[in-house]
Amino acid sequence: MVYQTVFTIATLALWPLRAASATVLPVAGPKRFDVAITTASLTDSDRLDPFTGDGRARSIMVSSFNPVASCLQTHLEAYMPPATAAFLDDKFSAYGLPNGSFRSLQIETCNTTQRGPCSSDNFPLVLFSGASETSRLIYTSMLQSIAATGYLVVSIDHPYDADVVEFLDGTTVTGKDISSDEDIELALATRVGDITFVRQQMTNATIADNLFPGHQLGNRLPKTAVIGHSLGGATAASAMLQDVSINAGLNLDGSMFGKVLEAGLDRPFMLMGHENKTQETDPSWKAIWLQIKEWKAEFEVKGAAHYSFSDLPLITAVLGLQEQLPAEVAEFLGTIEGHHMTELIVEYVSMFLDLVLKNGSENGLIESNDNFPEVVVGA
Ligand SMILES: *[C@@H]1O[C@H](CO)[C@@H](O)[C@H](O)[C@H]1NC(C)=O
Ligand SMILES: *[C@@H]1O[C@H](CO)[C@@H](O)[C@H](O)[C@H]1NC(C)=O
Ligand SMILES: *[C@@H]1O[C@H](CO)[C@@H](O)[C@H](O)[C@H]1NC(C)=O
Ligand SMILES: *[C@@H]1O[C@H](CO)[C@@H](O)[C@H](O)[C@H]1NC(C)=O
Ligand SMILES: *[C@@H]1O[C@H](CO)[C@@H](O)[C@H](O)[C@H]1NC(C)=O
Repeated sequence: MVYQTVFTIATLALWPLRAASATVLPVAGPKRFDVAITTASLTDSDRLDPFTGDGRARSIMVSSFNPVASCLQTHLEAYMPPATAAFLDDKFSAYGLPNGSFRSLQIETCNTTQRGPCSSDNFPLVLFSGASETSRLIYTSMLQSIAATGYLVVSIDHPYDADVVEFLDGTTVTGKDISSDEDIELALATRVGDITFVRQQMTNATIADNLFPGHQLGNRLPKTAVIGHSLGGATAASAMLQDVSINAGLNLDGSMFGKVLEAGLDRPFMLMGHENKTQETDPSWKAIWLQIKEWKAEFEVKGAAHYSFSDLPLITAVLGLQEQLPAEVAEFLGTIEGHHMTELIVEYVSMFLDLVLKNGSENGLIESNDNFPEVVVGA
C-alpha cells in the first residue's frame, strides 16, 4: 500500500495546509476485502427523462463497489472526478469548508483484479440512493467500507434531482429546483424507476461483467437490498413495493411517503434516524412501522444529525476541521467524531445486510452495543 502526499496547485497559500495536501479517506469497520470501483453511465431506452422534456431517454450515472478476494494491486485515486469536486468545493465553501477540500481527497482502491471467477462467494447486491440535491459520490467511503464486508454495491445518481452529476466525458447535469410536493413525487417515482432499471440491468451479463468482473452476476439473480439516505430512504421502500425481487430495504434518516405507507411491506425493513428522529416524532415512521409485516427494527443515533449518514463527518474529521466548523454546519453533521460515525453506519448496515441477505443473526443488531453506546434501539 502506498500512501503519498501530493500538493495540489493554485491558491494553496490562502488555506490551511491540511486542506491542500492530498488526504486519503480510510476504509472503516471490519474490512474483509479490497474493493475495486467502476463508474458507468446507463441509459434506459424504455423510459423518457421526465426532467428534460425533450424526448430524451433517461441516462444515469452509477458507481460499482466490487469486493475483490485477491487484489493484485491497489492505488490511490481521486475521491471525485474534477468537475464534481470543483462544484462541491464551491458549494461547501459557503459553509466554511476550505476551497480545495474535495479536490484534495483520495481513496485507495483495488485496480488490478484477477479476471475470471475470482471468488466462490455468492455476494449479494446492494443498491444505494442518496439524499436529494446530493451527489452519490459523497457516500463513496461509506459504500466502499460496506462493500469491503462482502457486498456488491451500486450507488446511483439521479440526474436533475442530484445537485451535480458528472458523466464519463466530463459533461455535467446540475440539479433542478425540486421543492413542490408535485416535484418531490416526480423525483420519487423517477428514482424508483432508476433503481428498478439498475436492478434489471444486473441480469445483462455485459453490464454486470463491466461493473462486477469475475462475479458472473448475469447468470444468477443475487439477493438484493436497497439502502437510501433521506429521500433515498423513502425511495428504498417505494422501490421494494414496485419490484418484488428486492429482498429488503433500509432507510437512513428519511421521512417516508408515497403509496407504500398504505400498501405496506412484506419484506424486512430497517429505519435508522438521527437524534430525536423516531416514530414518536415523525408520523411517517409510525405509519410505515405499522405496515411492515416482516422483520423490522428502528434505531436512533444520539448525537447524529441528518448528514451524519454520509461521508461528510469523516471528511471533516480527516481534514482536521470537525472541531472548527461553524455551528450551523455542526447542526447538520452532528457531534459524533467522523471515523466513529462511519464505523457505526458500516457496523449496523452490514449486520442488517448479513441478517436479511446472508445467514446472520439479529442478536448483535438489536442488543445494545458497547462500541456504539449512542445507538438506541427503538420501538
Ligand atoms: C494500478 O495502480 C498502480 C499504482 O498506481 C499502477 O502502477 C498500475 O498501472 C495500475 N494498473 C492498472 C491496470 O490501472
Ligand atoms: C475555489 O477555487 C477555484 C479554483 O482555484 C476557483 O475557481 C473558485 O472560484 C473558488 N471558489 C470560491 C467560492 O472561492
Ligand atoms: C446488454 O447491454 C448491452 C450494453 O448496453 C446491450 O448492447 C445489449 O443489447 C444488452 N443485452 C440485452 C439482452 O438486453
Ligand atoms: C432531543 O430531544 C430532547 C428532549 O426533548 C432534547 O433535550 C434534545 O435537545 C433534543 N436533541 C436535539 C439534537 O434536538
Ligand atoms: C454463515 O455462513 C458462512 C459461510 O457459509 C459461515 O462462515 C458463517 O459462520 C455463517 N454464519 C452464521 C452466523 O451462521
